[in-house]
Amino acid sequence: MMSLSHLSRNVTSSLQKVAAVSQRRAVSTSASGFDSIGVIGLGLMGHGICQVAATSGIHSSVIAFEKEQKFLDSGKNRILKSIEKLVAKEKMTAEKAEQTLASIQWTTDIGALNNVDFIVEAVIENMDLKRDLYTDLGTLCKPETIFASNTSSLSIAEMAAFSGREDKFVGVHFFNPVQLMKLVEVIRTDKTDAAVFKRAHSWVEDIGKVAVSCGDTPGFIVNRLLVPSLMQAMAMVDRNDATVKDIDISMQLGAGHPMGPLHLADYIGLDTCLFIVEGWAQKYPTEPSFFIPKCLKEKVTAGDLGRKSGKGFYNWEGDKRGDPVA
Ligand code: CAA
Repeated sequence: MMSLSHLSRNVTSSLQKVAAVSQRRAVSTSASGFDSIGVIGLGLMGHGICQVAATSGIHSSVIAFEKEQKFLDSGKNRILKSIEKLVAKEKMTAEKAEQTLASIQWTTDIGALNNVDFIVEAVIENMDLKRDLYTDLGTLCKPETIFASNTSSLSIAEMAAFSGREDKFVGVHFFNPVQLMKLVEVIRTDKTDAAVFKRAHSWVEDIGKVAVSCGDTPGFIVNRLLVPSLMQAMAMVDRNDATVKDIDISMQLGAGHPMGPLHLADYIGLDTCLFIVEGWAQKYPTEPSFFIPKCLKEKVTAGDLGRKSGKGFYNWEGDKRGDPVA
């Protein structure tokens, strides 16, 4: 198995050679025509987006931005680990791994994004933070730069208004884990320019994903259907209708889902689930499918956030799910 340090060493030595190859490919293989792109935020979703964009080989550079060095390092480490896994399982060649890493430029300087063609933002779901970010980006980036948010539940139109370029703003909603999940929802607002939307849609396909189109509606397609079903599973727990294990086994074996709803909620993060549904319940108080189950609120209040905290509906050891919490 290729080690992380070995991968990093190889990357350094082949950096210039590979960058030159990527540059030539960028012009010829991309329907979207985005030469350089930026990814803002390298957490759970952002690191995966950065990785798949770099692996596609269609960009001369993928600029990976995090505000603080420690978050940049942790995003880089996640990418290295994922790539190491793919190489070990022979799902990626060592050459492709080097090419991928060589095309990523790591930075804590937001000014490095001023000239990119396309930016995907994947920072935490906080509208105040996004308002400040998009206000800055709107003045920092060249006028042609297209902005895309990976938000899963916030309004794209609201963010677009902060950016001062509503016609050049879309949503690109990836799924976790980004490296494995094929779907990306591409979101347009009433003000998104048709040609901009088409380019963003093409970009999703250029990087090897399947794109679907949706308007700027809460949860888009997948989360509008998925999140209420997770809440229904939690409501069953609240009513003591069935055990956590039996609810999950039922949806796996009776409905063919890869993970049961409570397993999936732990996998997504219970704080994220609560954040999504709280926001919707507040904004759309008459929609009956947007409600907050008691057990969800209690677990998040207790700090039991699922996989990321080691305990949720299940106990977790790293990425490995254990028994249901008694
Ligand atoms: N990078 C590289 N490889 C990875 C990886 C990563 N990040 N994560 C897993 N893999 C590899 C594993 O090593 C494994 O390799 P082998 O098959 O060669 O052993 C392979 O991918 C499959 O992984 P797992 O063994 O963990 O097993 P799995 O078959 O259960 O697949 C899964 C995992 C794709 C996550 C599947 O369980 C699944 O589809 N679950 C549902 C996920 C889902 O619904 N996601 C959407 C969440 S909602 C969301 O994201 C939106 C939101 O806004 C909240």
